[in-house]
Amino acid sequence: MVSRAFRELPELGYHIPGPRRGPSIVIQEIQLQGIIRAVLGGYVLAPRGIHGLGHWARVLECGLRLADKTGADVRIVRLFAVLHDSRRENEGTDAGHGRRGAEFAAGLRNSLFVLDDPDFERLIFACDHHTDTDFHPDPTIQTCWDADRLDLPRVFTKVDPAFLGTAAARDPGMIRWAGERSRNGIVPRYVETDWDPPAG
Ligand SMILES: [Fe+2]
Ligand SMILES: [Fe+2]
Repeated sequence: MVSRAFRELPELGYHIPGPRRGPSIVIQEIQLQGIIRAVLGGYVLAPRGIHGLGHWARVLECGLRLADKTGADVRIVRLFAVLHDSRRENEGTDAGHGRRGAEFAAGLRNSLFVLDDPDFERLIFACDHHTDTDFHPDPTIQTCWDADRLDLPRVFTKVDPAFLGTAAARDPGMIRWAGERSRNGIVPRYVETDWDPPAG
């Protein structure tokens, strides 16, 4: 997707326009491909199920779009997108899946991603409490949760703005954009080419 400040390059990080007339720079960011390989290595549900790859990618893209407005830490948004539902055991409510996702994330720290302690705690909290807490004052945590909720129409659930904590997510245009993608099951091309390419 193209947003105002960032262009998502799934395996290269963020292409960030340089200051003033200077050249653009590419920051090597957290690499999602290895993390997704680790997730899928122990994922017990269908990778293309309602809480699988397509959902993670749409949460990622909603999160990055929101981050443009909320100032959320995009490293945490990216990690949350692919980890928050990574250790589900069923496609229903699955009490405890947030905690399991958080524990799985902790096991990848310092091997597949690096965050300092405060940022790591924010990621863990966002994963752990994404289903049992509605609002949080930290804009990064709230951006993660709003991005997840904006993908509810895929399971025939209308997005209720009263349960979105950022003004960016409550924007009717954002709800409409995310809702159309969610209802239509839009899956970005990089899911097939980079996240889970065909074997061989
Ligand atoms: Fe979840
Ligand atoms: Fe989710």
